[in-house]
Amino acid sequence: MTIDRVLVTRRLLPGGLDPLSAAGLDVVQRENDVPFTGSELAIAAGEVDAIVCVLTDRIDAEVLRAGAGRLKVVGNLAVGHDNIDVAVAAELGIAVCNTPGVLDETTADLAFLLLLAAARRASDAEADLRQGRWTGFGIANFLGTDVYDSTLGLVGYGRIGRAVARRASGFGMRVLHHTRRDTGEQGWVGDLDELLVSADAVSLHVPLTEETRGMVDARRLALMRPHAVLVNTARGPIVDEVALADALERGAIFGAGIDVYEREPEVHPRLLAAPHAVLLPHVGSATEQTRRRMAQLACEGVVAVLAGERPPNLVSPI
Ligand code: DGY
Repeated sequence: MTIDRVLVTRRLLPGGLDPLSAAGLDVVQRENDVPFTGSELAIAAGEVDAIVCVLTDRIDAEVLRAGAGRLKVVGNLAVGHDNIDVAVAAELGIAVCNTPGVLDETTADLAFLLLLAAARRASDAEADLRQGRWTGFGIANFLGTDVYDSTLGLVGYGRIGRAVARRASGFGMRVLHHTRRDTGEQGWVGDLDELLVSADAVSLHVPLTEETRGMVDARRLALMRPHAVLVNTARGPIVDEVALADALERGAIFGAGIDVYEREPEVHPRLLAAPHAVLLPHVGSATEQTRRRMAQLACEGVVAVLAGERPPNLVSPI
């Protein structure tokens, strides 16, 4: 009996690969933790039955075609899967698995952290203190905008959006949500523009697709309230970064809490310099427990597909 071979593109947390070892699979990893280039991935794809990858690995048509014939499944350590050409994978009969469910609460915590930090100008205030510029309590120092008792607008109302809504209710916030289809639930707003006009804070929880790319552009930012805060823990290209920097510079919105960027790891210099922006380096799911569980779930999907089963975390039916 031949043993299936699984390429794991990056070092993962201890315990993360347990499902692969428990299934007796042959795990291939690089000595170092250097990311694979596209052409290296394509070569490697032809030599394995499965790939466990992270969201910075581009599993495009070229990589998938290079793997076709032997490659059966790609397990992505993320719930978002815009780094994988899922349509081509489906065409080639290659399964794609992701990590839904296990990062919802952790990511919602971070979205809330960004909301609070941006609304209360925590980064600016701390930087001032650390740089020795604090001269003592001041009535008008670092004035923020209230989060409690305000209205939160969620764009997207899946698991993570709902987890953010639960946190918001603890802060006495009214919660609106926008989805294309009517959820039939209280707070649904069918028109995104209307939600932007009505909310004091807007948090994005939609996947990156051709429809959501550039969704929050200059026109939509102009609809937001002058004291509003925008939070993005979803995917960078959903927001036009230059338009956001412009809105912050002009005071058209109050602040922004951003974890994801249009061209990671680049951050537009105007956004870096923009006032009232709290900027984190894509750490939404970055807790030890969650990152371990994400690795295990991606690996569980891979093990199941290799065993001829349909895992619950299959992105596209094959
Ligand atoms: C995801 O899962 O899509 C996140 O961006 C990574 O934590």
